[in-house]
Amino acid sequence: MDVDAAWLPAEAFRAVGRRRSLVPAGGLVDTVRRELVDACERFGGRVVREDAELVFELTEGLGEEGFALTRRDGITTVTASDERGLLYGLFHVVRLGEEAFAGDRPREEHRPAYARRMLDHWDNVAVHPVMGQVERGYSGGSLFWADGRARGDWERVRAYGRLLAACGINAVTVNNVNVHETEARLLTDRIGDVAAIADVLRPYGIRTHLSVTFAAPVVLGGPPTADPLDGAVRDWWARATDAVYGAIADFGGYVVKADSEGRPGPFAYGRSHADGANMLAAALEPYGGTVHWRAFVYDHHQDWRDRGTDRARAAYDHFTPLDGRFAKNAVLQVKHGPMDFQVREPVSPLIGAMPRTRLAVELQVTQEYTGQQRHACWLGPMWSEVLGFRPDGEVSTGRLAHELVAVSNVGDDPFWTGHPLAQANLYTFGRLAWNPAADPRAILDEWIALTHPGADDRLTAGLHTVLDGSWSTYEKYTAPLGVGFMVQPGHHYGPGVDGYEYSPWGTYHFADRDGVGVDRSTGTGTGYAGQYATPWSGLYDSPATCPDDLLLFFHHVPYTHVLPSGKTVIQHIYDTHFEGVAEVEEARRVWTGLAGLVEPARHARVAERYEEQLRGAREWRDQINSYFLRKSGVPDERGRTIY
Ligand code: GCU
Repeated sequence: MDVDAAWLPAEAFRAVGRRRSLVPAGGLVDTVRRELVDACERFGGRVVREDAELVFELTEGLGEEGFALTRRDGITTVTASDERGLLYGLFHVVRLGEEAFAGDRPREEHRPAYARRMLDHWDNVAVHPVMGQVERGYSGGSLFWADGRARGDWERVRAYGRLLAACGINAVTVNNVNVHETEARLLTDRIGDVAAIADVLRPYGIRTHLSVTFAAPVVLGGPPTADPLDGAVRDWWARATDAVYGAIADFGGYVVKADSEGRPGPFAYGRSHADGANMLAAALEPYGGTVHWRAFVYDHHQDWRDRGTDRARAAYDHFTPLDGRFAKNAVLQVKHGPMDFQVREPVSPLIGAMPRTRLAVELQVTQEYTGQQRHACWLGPMWSEVLGFRPDGEVSTGRLAHELVAVSNVGDDPFWTGHPLAQANLYTFGRLAWNPAADPRAILDEWIALTHPGADDRLTAGLHTVLDGSWSTYEKYTAPLGVGFMVQPGHHYGPGVDGYEYSPWGTYHFADRDGVGVDRSTGTGTGYAGQYATPWSGLYDSPATCPDDLLLFFHHVPYTHVLPSGKTVIQHIYDTHFEGVAEVEEARRVWTGLAGLVEPARHARVAERYEEQLRGAREWRDQINSYFLRKSGVPDERGRTIY
């Protein structure tokens, strides 16, 4: 099978391709020109020198990536101050279709809210014995690497760059944050492989970044230490970085996972994370590069008997004392929640607590804990909630952080994302990074219209029915009320209620015969709730005011605790699990009814995934309900079958 066109099928360019277009020449504008030439060849328009209906122009004042669109006297004009702006303007016109050429349009300006909108690939160069080619990858192999080498499928990488540009992503990290032996060498003797990827992505306005190991000097034959304050180490990084820029002049910078889950870091030398990050920032600074330093630092050798240590507190405890000490070109990359991309978590309190530090918020597009692209789970509503969170409780339309990053969900699968509907997650991430205030459902509309040109009302409504509430459905049959990690250890797919309960990973639910949940209150618990500013600290601190969907994240409550809905916690657990399965049954039914409206191979792939989703949802329902019935001894009020 050919590679799926995702949200850029040829047909999406019909309106543009019918027009006479005028476009300047040179640099990235050539990307725009090539798009127009291709579209015109297909649909009968022309790229012209005068008398155009669609004009692209460079002017002043629209910032690095912004663009303006106007239509007057039968001419649609896209202006931008930078070539990338023209590219984003082109895709905007593509999204509008015929609407961009109908009647006059007052000038509208578009600028991205987040200047860097980055995807991190957790791709390994060499196949890892446990994690495979792509860590937490559910879409086949890597687009970039295969069996220890660059994959060399440049057409595919080019098509990828084009898809990313069309949803607004402008930075890519090409390898896993867990940097193993082969991957470490991308920094030095294998930088040519990275440069080749950068060359293909550059025409789409995408800068290339690299994950590096903090121990690089040691493992790559430099000084025998990686101490960030050691002069020889600093020189080694300066030289290595100079060579990187020799190969890739617009290289974006390094991503570092240090002192995290066994990766090397500055702690081994008694240095702080600011020392570590700033050393790399200093090496990158002369070339305009950035270091993304991850805040995912916690004790993964915790003793489950120790109730005083709370993994949720870790990032805040480690990093807030360092606020103001990071270099200007160091960005602290913080996972959106304090734990690890669970189905439901509060927004990390670290995000509001580092006013003097550049922050990136990290989301996970790959569905590690949300169904692994075998279950349909559209994460737009989750991300929209996260990005709309205001640490001080004020309502504002500003940004949550300086940058947005997400872990990619693509691979060499013909549909890119394994589950074809998971394409919507990638598209939505890019668009929300451009405009976090956008209604995610409107973004889904765009995705539907682009991916299925000519979609009729039935198809559009059907896709909304199966996707709009799919995150909530997933939450219902897996982990309601904010409890996390009831998954099978290691691969994290499917239910494993006690899978992590007695493990060293700091991920517990503390279910006993009387109740469930983690007491993170300031009075009797770990004090985590106190890491928030008001009003959140107060709201989260008491079970009476804590939002129900986070109740078990913040509190250990009896099964008989009554929720605002009037239901007890135990009855809520039973009810949501039955509801979640019923919702999957309904989604599967709706999807079956869309046969004939969706391209057959795509329909079949999704249909197959629904079978697995339904099997999985039933398994979740029955294991969770049986577990809590057995623990609590409280029967289901409605007398349904629980095992
Ligand atoms: C999760 C995930 C790991 C990953 C880690 C990280 O724990 O399971 O595979 O390496 O996050 O974000 O670094």
